[in-house]
Amino acid sequence: MNFSNKVVFVAGGTTGINFGIAESFVAAGARVAVLSRKQDKVDAAVAALKAKGGEAIGFAADVRSIEALDAAMAATAAQWGAIDVLVSGAAGNFVSEADQLSANGFKTVIDIDLLGCFNVMKAAFPHLKKPGASIVNISAPQSWLPTPMQIHVCAAKAGIDQVTRTAAMEWGPKGIRVNAIAPGPIADTEGMKRLAPTPAAAQAWTDSVPLRRWGTRQEIARVTQWLCSDDASYVSGVILPVDGGWSLGGSSAMSSALLAS
Ligand code: COA
Repeated sequence: MNFSNKVVFVAGGTTGINFGIAESFVAAGARVAVLSRKQDKVDAAVAALKAKGGEAIGFAADVRSIEALDAAMAATAAQWGAIDVLVSGAAGNFVSEADQLSANGFKTVIDIDLLGCFNVMKAAFPHLKKPGASIVNISAPQSWLPTPMQIHVCAAKAGIDQVTRTAAMEWGPKGIRVNAIAPGPIADTEGMKRLAPTPAAAQAWTDSVPLRRWGTRQEIARVTQWLCSDDASYVSGVILPVDGGWSLGGSSAMSSALLAS
């Protein structure tokens, strides 16, 4: 894919899936801005992206702060011009039974994942290229599959899907496409470390995927780039599973395993 001189903003882009996406856009020639909470992670990510020969900048900010996001988007546009691609992937996750989860624990994940996604899109909107910009939000199969120990994530990701679809309707007439991807189990991610903390749990996840393996960050990045490319120019409002078929039925096996754990 060629994204030469395109401006890409990846919220949550310093680790895991989102860093993989940032790396792939740098490799495709884009100028990439990343944002996450901790300055040391931002510095490390920017250094790694530059080491690959890319143009990169970073912002230490919390997606729960609309003011911080406004400033980061404005600074990106001031430096490089209008934003062509926005990826919103900042997220928090942990495993907890609903009756053990505090109201603040539930709210924290809603605030990071759902409010954070809205904030990222809202702050970016004035700076998005119109027409032509493309947004990809990072959802999850939990958005439509009720999953034990994940009531907070299920609620947050379901909200992200509706934010995605609604923005696709409102911003489509301005020439902005809005989609989401829903990754299944992906290797080398913080989320899966939490969902599969032991070798036995990791194997159970593998067995529950029709393709019998976890996905890679590269596979997520390639689909994200495709969604933002001209090849997907008539695709908007879609929540695309990228999960080796896991959401076709593997989730019921994992639900039993999670309930038994
Ligand atoms: N089980 C149950 N509740 C938990 C929890 C866990 N493992 N971890 C945090 N919480 C609760 C806290 O107890 C607190 O509620 P309380 O005030 O009622 O006690 C609430 O969540 C907020 O916790 P806090 O640590 O202050 O929030 P934070 O904003 O610093 O951290 C999290 C956000 C909770 C999502 C944290 O797990 C995090 O930062 N994770 C890193 C990123 C990540 O999860 N990546 C995976 C992406 S898929």
